[in-house]
Amino acid sequence: MTDLTEGILLAMEEAVRTAGRMMKQAHVEKDGIEKKEGRSNFVTEYDRRNQVYLEEAFSGILPEAVFMGEENDRFDAHLPMGYVFIVDPIDGTTNFLFDMSLSCVSAGLLKDGKPEAGFVYNPYTDDMFRAWRGHGAFRNGRRLKAEDVPLEEGLALFGCVAYNREHIDALFLCVWELFEKALGIRSLGTAAVALSLVAAGAAVVYTEYVLKPWDYAASVVILEEAGCRITQMDGSPVSMSCPSSVIAGTPKAWAQTREIIRQAEKASTPSGC
Ligand code: IPD
Ligand code: CA
Repeated sequence: MTDLTEGILLAMEEAVRTAGRMMKQAHVEKDGIEKKEGRSNFVTEYDRRNQVYLEEAFSGILPEAVFMGEENDRFDAHLPMGYVFIVDPIDGTTNFLFDMSLSCVSAGLLKDGKPEAGFVYNPYTDDMFRAWRGHGAFRNGRRLKAEDVPLEEGLALFGCVAYNREHIDALFLCVWELFEKALGIRSLGTAAVALSLVAAGAAVVYTEYVLKPWDYAASVVILEEAGCRITQMDGSPVSMSCPSSVIAGTPKAWAQTREIIRQAEKASTPSGC
């Protein structure tokens, strides 16, 4: 297996930056939009174009790697060994569609099933988050080291989508509690940006009931290298081949949010007797 080098990672970073610029320059034509399953679930021709661009660029950078992207449905429960790219060509597609100027490109690189490197680029703020396992996490070249800030001293982020109401009662009970405890709550519409902002210390926690591997594959390394935790709500590791629930935060805010979710689930589950 090829050894990862700084040169490989710089080339990946450049490709992610280019894809981000392509997204920023796009003019969304309404006839280039398709609906996916459920309410408010879209894909645009730019999601597809960015994915085609990244697949081509990445295969030139690391030809032995398998490429998996949100738009090609090539995910299966058996992740191959060796290198695998997991890519979201546009994270925050609905924001993109409505000109919110808040979307990003997210690309993770797995090695033997484990996240090894990650890039999240928000072209609207020109923010590049990158990390390499064992070599640190950076925002625009500045090393990230999250302080262990509790909920009471920071912002709490959460995500939900109109096309999935599973656990929605528990989520909003949890959000209510986060509103009571944290300095403020926010929902950005792009999980990858939200997770990276937690790594950067802009918020202390992010939670969502169902995310897909391409939403967090890049951010896992960015968060962990910055000293944050990311797990499923039951504390188990997030999966790189199936959807996962997510809590990501400073160690203190992660533990507090986990307890809040535990209580919210108890309160929202009918007792059955
Ligand atoms: C979505 C965004 C959103 C999150 C959803 C994701 P997409 O990704 O990250 O913030 O709440 O769960 O599916 O569809 O914009 O790539
Ligand atoms: Ca996407």
